[in-house]
Parts: sequence; C-alpha cells; structure tokens
Amino acid sequence: RLPEIDTVEKVVELLKTRERIIVLTGAGISTSLGIPDFRSKGSGLYARLESLGLSDPQEVFDIDVFNDDPTIFYSIAKDILPTTQRFSPTHAFIALLQQKNKLLTNYTQNIDNLETLAGISPDKLIQCHGSFATASCVKCNYQVPGTTIFPEMQRGVVARCDRCLSLCASTPTTNPLTGKKRKRRIKNTPPASRKKKFSEDSSAEEEEMNYREAGVMKPDITFFGQMLPDTFHKRLLGNDRDKVDLLICIGTSLKVAPVSEIIGYLPPDVPQIYISKTPVNHIEFDVELLGSCDEVVVELCRRAGWDLTHEMIPKE
Ligand code: OAD
Repeated sequence: RLPEIDTVEKVVELLKTRERIIVLTGAGISTSLGIPDFRSKGSGLYARLESLGLSDPQEVFDIDVFNDDPTIFYSIAKDILPTTQRFSPTHAFIALLQQKNKLLTNYTQNIDNLETLAGISPDKLIQCHGSFATASCVKCNYQVPGTTIFPEMQRGVVARCDRCLSLCASTPTTNPLTGKKRKRRIKNTPPASRKKKFSEDSSAEEEEMNYREAGVMKPDITFFGQMLPDTFHKRLLGNDRDKVDLLICIGTSLKVAPVSEIIGYLPPDVPQIYISKTPVNHIEFDVELLGSCDEVVVELCRRAGWDLTHEMIPKE
C-alpha cells in the first residue's frame, strides 16, 4: 500500500535532487530472499526461538550468555548462517544510489553480507552489527575467515580455537604412567563422542582437557553487551552528520540502540523517510511508505525514471 500520490512524488523529487543519502537498513531488506527477520510475529527468528525456553529469545545474541554457555548460540547458529548468494531488489536499489553518486553511507544492521554481494563498496558500508566474514577466539582473539567455523555452526557444535589448541598441544605434558614428557594432541572436535570408548586411555583425557582449555570461536557479529565497531561512531559523528541531506530507513524496527539513535543525531532539517511493512511508533518520520520494501523501491525508481534491474523485478 502506497500513501497519497503527492507524498510519493515528494519522495521521488528528494531522491532525484539529494546527493548525500544515508540509507539505514535492517533485516526486512533480506526477507524476500527467504532470510527471516528478527521480530516479525510468527516468521521472525525470535518467534522461532521461543521453544528454546529462554526468558528472552534475544539472549542467544547476548555476550554474557555466550560466555557462560556457547552451546545455546551454536544450537541455533545454522538458522542464521548465510544461505543465499542472491541479493534483493532493495539491495540493488542501494547499489543504484551508489552508482548515481548519491549514497553517502549504507548503515546496515544485517550480518548476511549481501550488501557486498550487491556491489556496495566497503567505503560506503558500515556493518553496524558486524558480519560472518570473520570469526575470532574469545580467549586469544585469533581471527579466521568466517567460513572456517561454518561446518561447526552447521552441525550445532561449539567451534574451538585452532591456535589455542595448538598452543596446548605444544606444551609438553607428563605421561602419568611412564613419567615421560609428551606432546598434547590437537583435535578441533569435541572428544565427548569418543570418550566412552577411550575412557581408560589417558591421552583421550588429555584431548578432552585441551579441548576444554581452548577458547571458543565466535563469529564477528555484534552481540548484545558488545561495543559496535569503531567505524560506526567515527563515520557518523566525524563525517556523515555534517554532510547528509536525506535519510532513508528501510526494513528495520529500529528497536536496537545505538543504531536506532542515528536518526536523533542527524540535523532536524534532513528529510527522513521510513520504508517498511510495519510502522514505528517511537520515532516520527516525515514520510512513511508502508509495504514490501522491494515493491516500494521499484515504484520509486519507476517514477524517477531510473532503470532498476534485478532478476526479481518483472520486465515491463
Ligand atoms: P527486525 O526484525 O526487528 O525488524 C524488521 C522490520 O522489517 C520489521 O519492521 C518488519 O515489519 C519489516 N519487514 C520485514 N520484511 C519486510 C519486507 N519484505 N519489506 C518491508 N519491510 C519488511 O529487524 P532489525 O530491525 O534489523 O541485532 O533488527 C535489529 C537488530 O535486532 C538486528 O541487527 C539484531 C536483532 O537483535 C543483533 O543481533 C545485535
């Protein structure tokens, strides 16, 4: 549903005339690809997690909960792994703004990294909540490409740090039976499954010990209780706030700070547009375009006379 025609025309006029646009995006821009958002009733990830019995489903992304018991996050990790190599018409719209030299910055809360796939250049993109591109050890900060831990995430098994494991292994221990020094074993899989069989074998116990001592790997996505990347504040306050001439928020409930606070930091004379299926009550926008964001941006581009091409947009 699009609002009154004159409102849409006003937005189209802004799109055509403004040249330093901030686009703030959330999970709603990827739902047309089959990736669930977080808070939509019924279909959102948090509704699906109710069966876990947590007091608040957001706890799966809470850093204290993760540090206490990483198995909770790993039990649902496969549900949030990037599963597609496609981007949506809304991603294509943001890339089109970039092509037209109108994109100041895309602040995305999404961790699916699809902006990069759509061609948004790294100097135009702030991944406010990080991404799956890398993963780090919570103990020694050793960083690896995110794909390294995808197999464990798929299997729902806590990934341990290879560097911690090899450090453990290179520290010689004493064989209690022979009194001889020996190297520890390395294995980045929980030895629990083999424990029964080898329960009499002291090397299995060592393996278990190495595994427990090694740090847990965490994808470099921002959990509740963690700071946002430095670039977020630097870019917003050190550059964008003084340059922006239009704000477009797309597919986000704006429930999570500090991203939701971006709007309050911008000069009040900068027009603010909100595009989403669900209206927000806690923030007032100049214009709300409610509906599927793909449909809204396709219509805006059609009226602007812009050629937005994408496999999901029917050719006229
Ligand atoms: P939410 O799930 O909170 O909000 C998504 C919004 O997009 C909702 O308002 C939906 O109605 C809307 N929406 C869904 N599909 C849409 C579509 N096809 N077209 C238009 N609108 C659509 O997701 P975010 O606002 O991104 O953080 O959530 C923010 C943060 O909360 C996430 O980054 C994540 C989460 O907890 C962390 O994990 C740290």
